[in-house]
Amino acid sequence: MDSAQIRDKYIEFFVSKGHKQIPSAPVVPENDPSVLFNTAGMQPLVPYLMGEPHPYGTRLCDYQKCMRTNDLDEVGDVTHHTFFEMLGNWSLGDYFKKESVTWSFELLTKVFNIPVERLAVTVFKGNDIVPADDETANIWRSLGIPDNRIKYLGEDDNWWPNMELTGPCGPDTEIFYFRSEDEIPEEYDPEDDRWVEIWNNVFMQYNHNADGSFTELPKKNVDTGMGLERIASVLEGVTDNYKSTIWKDVIAKIEEITGLPYEGNEKAMRIIADHIRSSVFMSADPAGIKPSNTDQGYILRRLIRRAIRYAKKLNIDIDSNWEEQIAVLIIEKYKGYYPELEENRQVVLDVLKGEKVKFNRTLEKGLKEFEKIASKITDGKMDKDNAFRLYDTFGFPIELTVELANEMGIKVDEEGFKEKFKAHQELSRAGAKEKFKGGLAATGETETQYHTATHLLNAALKVVVSPDCHQKGSNITAERMRFDFSCDHKLTDEEKQQTEDLVNKWIDEGLVVTKEEMSKEEAINSGAECMFIERYPDVVTVYKIGQVSAELCGGPHVSNTKEIPHIKIKKEEACSAGIRRIKAEFVK
Ligand code: ALA
Repeated sequence: MDSAQIRDKYIEFFVSKGHKQIPSAPVVPENDPSVLFNTAGMQPLVPYLMGEPHPYGTRLCDYQKCMRTNDLDEVGDVTHHTFFEMLGNWSLGDYFKKESVTWSFELLTKVFNIPVERLAVTVFKGNDIVPADDETANIWRSLGIPDNRIKYLGEDDNWWPNMELTGPCGPDTEIFYFRSEDEIPEEYDPEDDRWVEIWNNVFMQYNHNADGSFTELPKKNVDTGMGLERIASVLEGVTDNYKSTIWKDVIAKIEEITGLPYEGNEKAMRIIADHIRSSVFMSADPAGIKPSNTDQGYILRRLIRRAIRYAKKLNIDIDSNWEEQIAVLIIEKYKGYYPELEENRQVVLDVLKGEKVKFNRTLEKGLKEFEKIASKITDGKMDKDNAFRLYDTFGFPIELTVELANEMGIKVDEEGFKEKFKAHQELSRAGAKEKFKGGLAATGETETQYHTATHLLNAALKVVVSPDCHQKGSNITAERMRFDFSCDHKLTDEEKQQTEDLVNKWIDEGLVVTKEEMSKEEAINSGAECMFIERYPDVVTVYKIGQVSAELCGGPHVSNTKEIPHIKIKKEEACSAGIRRIKAEFVK
């Protein structure tokens, strides 16, 4: 079974159990300022896990684009990736432990044909919020998992996401596979890393509030997640993920470009493969990420630059179209599952090439400069001024300098660098460290206000600029809103002013915000605005603002526009071909 079949069979299985397949959400969360990327399949579903009815019903499944960048620098070994796909299925107050565990077992043993003796599980041993999960342990036993393959573990292992993060959470049961030729030990040992985790089923019953308390969610949910890259390597019997069908062809392409074998060049080839794939998905995302020095754009920049450095190590001619060849292969491979790759093919290639040209201009000189600096170091330490110079003059992300230095046993004064960097350029507040940790903030009051304001902005653009202006993406933080829309020209100052004035007029008018469920057909006929109509189910939720706006949307919104402060358009710029981006803030 190759990775595409695994993805298909997973979805097929859960559809056969009454689940509706939902489309993958963009890799950048639409309305969650606490994270840079979706790090799990459940993230786009937070409002529904919190009780909002989902338009597709109570049983959902999907494959979701995810990015985890905390250990970006670990990529290069056999298991780490930055981008990955998470297969997930959910019960929103529908079935609970019995069905969830039974179906997981059925899929693994009957569809994926994993022998029961290769499986082990963990369940929650209890704390002062919930008791030990004997119920789940009993279900596993009834399915044929012996006692010595069922371990009760504590909060660190069997609570998701963890006790610190706010948002929906709960105890979980994890499923492990014995990945080794060795004889399978009778007893499952959590310390033995021949047992690899393949699936996590979370019994999501609580909300962890900002004040530290846990409250029961209105409904008991199930949230499961299985990393496609991991399960593919398990089912294909490889211990190096990059030898599975997910990566094989990409690695073969890199071998062809370099004329070198994978064996002996694994680290560099893995890094190039992983980083280019992530860059393709990021730059094709509806969020329209471009390389920059903050937030998602900075991650994209680091990925492309790190890939280039490793390409150089393999003596790839950086000026050739090597990155395009790899990107095209990835686009072709995934476009059937992620149509945005095809739609934004040119954008992706332009982003990669643009960043490459930019970095390549200074890379050679920067590497020379690095060597010069390093050769003068006698105490094993690089000071902040040199690190900053490499960043400022040669475009070396600090992580790149640190990585190069590490290879030579040199430590970089990263703290000092950060201070200098801050002084040099006010660090984007939103890009602060917190966001790299990942977390699941519930939507706050300001974000809700901004959300309603984006609907007003969407409507105002249609009146002032053109009825052909349609939303192409949005991103909200507590500090600002960003709104991408189709438009064939740069807005004039007059258009900007009129749009802003119209939104503020509607705010002053105190328009009532209402929510209505209707059939998709009714919604289309009523002219409701919607980003991807073909991806919606038969029954949809439409939010209306007075007579001025109607949009398909999951919420949340304010109930009256007078709850929103006035907006000020701060910036209007090109986002990608035919798409403009507005940044606006509330006037406090
Ligand atoms: N949300 C759970 C995870 O990511 C399933 O592991």
